[in-house]
Amino acid sequence: MGNPFPRWTNWLPVQIVICLGALGTVVTAWVWYTWTPKYTRVGYQPNQPIPFDHTIHAGQVGMDCRYCHSFVENSAHSNVPNAQVCWNCHGPGKVKSDSPKLEPLRQAMDTSNSNYTGAPIRWVQIHETPDYAYFNHSAHVNRGVSCVECHGKVNEMPVVYHAKPLSMGFCLDCHRNVESHLRPLDEITNLDWEAHDLDKDQFYAYLAEKTGKPADDLKEADKNKELNARLVGARLKEMMNVNPPQDCAACHR
Ligand code: HEC
Ligand code: HEC
Ligand code: HEC
Ligand code: HEC
Ligand code: HEC
Repeated sequence: MGNPFPRWTNWLPVQIVICLGALGTVVTAWVWYTWTPKYTRVGYQPNQPIPFDHTIHAGQVGMDCRYCHSFVENSAHSNVPNAQVCWNCHGPGKVKSDSPKLEPLRQAMDTSNSNYTGAPIRWVQIHETPDYAYFNHSAHVNRGVSCVECHGKVNEMPVVYHAKPLSMGFCLDCHRNVESHLRPLDEITNLDWEAHDLDKDQFYAYLAEKTGKPADDLKEADKNKELNARLVGARLKEMMNVNPPQDCAACHR
């Protein structure tokens, strides 16, 4: 008697196992993706040793973020400034040097202060990636991703708080759809930047400079399009060959 089952069914159990395996992976990935705590840290706003106000320094005084967060372009880590940076302006005889709010600064810097310790100001860290995930500031900032994408409008925060989830889902949302999140490199620390404020001629001149293609051709190709965040981002993505990774090993090394 012949075999009642066709030959291919010999492979069925193997196929079922493979399919179940693949399904398992998808389900696990989905669970991880959706269970990553999305909003747990949003709103976290610890008290700081000195009530440092970004609306004064980055807003009214108009200081660039990099004056204080000076490593942000060159290293994985974005530093918080040391006391010397504050002392440049708030030292003896300078801005508000007697303010009671600045007592911890005087303890850190002023050797004539009776409470002088020389110990650094102990700022409480607000944003923190868990050790098992890898994050690098310079890799983002130098590719056209602004601080505002991940920290919100810090220039409008009298007290800094955790504005965005910074969860895995949040990271991946941008990595999958990066067009809407890129801007020219000189606008990275301008948190109020809007794509439609861009001057068309300047933008295409910028693209031309970076690509070596004639500005008029680039502009002609977009002549009926409105210069919005998506178009600007799409052009920058092409021009700079931006391609954020989505594989697990990129962020979990
Ligand atoms: C005069 C110095 C100074 C300038 C300019 C400045 N910052 Fe800060 N920044 C600080 C200090 C000090 C802290 C720590 C205290 C606090 O959280 O307020 C801080 C904290 C932060 C934090 C939270 C850090 C954490 O612990 O997670 C972010 C985000 C941040 N700054 C972003 C910015 C951005 C964006 C700009 C530009 C718009 C900027 N800062 C400009 C001094 C500065
Ligand atoms: C480029 C100069 C400059 C630097 C650097 C600077 N500040 Fe200021 N800071 C100012 C100015 C200007 C004011 C507003 C003074 C006023 O209201 O008249 C101010 C105000 C303040 C106040 C409010 C004081 C009060 O009594 O109202 C605090 C607190 C303060 N700064 C902390 C810091 C700290 C901490 C740092 C370092 C991380 C720092 N500043 C760095 C210029 C600076
Ligand atoms: C793509 C997202 C992203 C962008 C863009 C970004 N940051 Fe961050 N930032 C983070 C994450 C994530 C952390 C927590 C990192 C960690 O644990 O080391 C962080 C932490 C910080 C800290 C705290 C460092 C510490 O040790 O206290 C500062 C300050 C900061 N960022 C400033 C900036 C500034 C200024 C810019 C723009 C020039 C910027 N960031 C752009 C995601 C971002
Ligand atoms: C708003 C958009 C945006 C967000 C949010 C974002 N990224 Fe990225 N990421 C990028 C861009 C753009 C690049 C650069 C890709 C390139 O150079 O081709 C990048 C590159 C990377 C890289 C590869 C470069 C490197 O450092 O090795 C890693 C890893 C990475 N991101 C991790 C993260 C993590 C972790 C988070 C969340 C905490 C995050 N990203 C959030 C846009 C974003
Ligand atoms: C763009 C960067 C990025 C990529 C790509 C990425 N992850 Fe993550 N992952 C993160 C970050 C950031 C966290 C930490 C989230 C937080 O702090 O809440 C995280 C957290 C996790 C966690 C812990 C979940 C939890 O609930 O705390 C697991 C498990 C995980 N990732 C698995 C994966 C797997 C599997 C992949 C590939 C399918 C992957 N990740 C791809 C950035 C990434």
